[in-house]
Amino acid sequence: MNLTFEEIRGLEEKHLAPTYQKMPVAIKSGRGCKVYDVNGKEYIDFMTGYGVAILGHGYPRIIDSIKSQLENIAVVHSSVYSEQRALFLKKLVSITPKNLSAAYLSNSGAEAIEAALKVVLKATKRKKIIAMTGAYHGKTLGALSLTFSEKYRKAFDDIIYKGVEFAEYGNLEAVERGRRLEEYAAIFVEPIQGEGGIRLPPEDYLKGLREIAEKNGILLVVDEVQSGLGRTGKMWAHEHWNIVPDVMTIGKGIGGGIPMGVTVARPELMNVLEVGEHTSTMGGNPLACAAGKAVLDALTEDHIIENVREVGSYTMKLLSEEVGRSRIVKEVRGKGLMMAVELRVRFLEVLFKAIEFGLLTLYSGKTVLRMLPPLILSKEESAKAASILRESLNWYEKSKI
Ligand SMILES: Cc1ncc(COP(=O)(O)O)c(C=O)c1O
Repeated sequence: MNLTFEEIRGLEEKHLAPTYQKMPVAIKSGRGCKVYDVNGKEYIDFMTGYGVAILGHGYPRIIDSIKSQLENIAVVHSSVYSEQRALFLKKLVSITPKNLSAAYLSNSGAEAIEAALKVVLKATKRKKIIAMTGAYHGKTLGALSLTFSEKYRKAFDDIIYKGVEFAEYGNLEAVERGRRLEEYAAIFVEPIQGEGGIRLPPEDYLKGLREIAEKNGILLVVDEVQSGLGRTGKMWAHEHWNIVPDVMTIGKGIGGGIPMGVTVARPELMNVLEVGEHTSTMGGNPLACAAGKAVLDALTEDHIIENVREVGSYTMKLLSEEVGRSRIVKEVRGKGLMMAVELRVRFLEVLFKAIEFGLLTLYSGKTVLRMLPPLILSKEESAKAASILRESLNWYEKSKI
């Protein structure tokens, strides 16, 4: 059955909780870095389901792995051993930072954060936590307490975790000022803030956090849900600043489109959790593990991260030269293929025009166009996206200024 865009929109608006800011498009299929709507119109996909489709759409390794796992068995609860889970874990710990060889498997980024929260609170027996202004760690109640935006928190203020304090992102002094640091269990930080608008830290920031943590017996939790898995040109974004976290969270692309979240920690930290203290019916199911193994194999064997470095710097140059010249562009920034164009105006009309011209992309806040293309992006696709963006900005300048 082929529904029209209006029929699809009607059904979703009637029956789906109204919590998503909708875009005026219904996507039906995807191949590589392109997606297609119900009318067959093509878009370059810089949205990738919010950074999930890191290998684009229809990546053969993922399809083969999921298909053969489905034919074999889709469901094996984590209370029973599974070959596919074991193989995924073996591959996972071959690419996680030094000593972070114990994993808790869940179904989303927020769940990966929830597990990290329990680990650090129980391991340190301390109650206070530092998170950053502008931070986004998800919207389940534990994760929400670490997420900065007032808009997301205000209706639930009574039921979120009260031990969290926010320090200005990028400012080391703000972490230390006025605090008895020996009372804090953990510092949670995104190495590059994603939802916050693709904010890169000052050069010495993560090293400084690592030192503060070390000195005070605080655990450093690095949230790589958006920035990890090659997105910035290294497997983990924090590697650009040569630090090793105590706990790390992974999500989005790790399940190749199957829901998956992962929390990794040093074994002595993860092992403070006892039987029954944290479980999930679907966490670690072999279907997600099969997809996850295929994703990690691709990242380590198919020259994906090399492509991010090459096409990432090509794209940043192109955006700076072509798009950055627009009168309404304030800044072009990013690392690898985690990019943003900050406007001097609200993004909405430019974003919708870009969609009309065939580029689907993301946003942050009120003025930032955010771009999380597939890591397999080609230079041609990148150039096309930049030119669509340029056209959309031209349209705005001509019609609105
Ligand atoms: C850095 C970071 N952490 C956590 C999350 C939450 O992930 P999820 O939406 O899968 O719960 C996100 C989602 O965008 C994120 O960017």
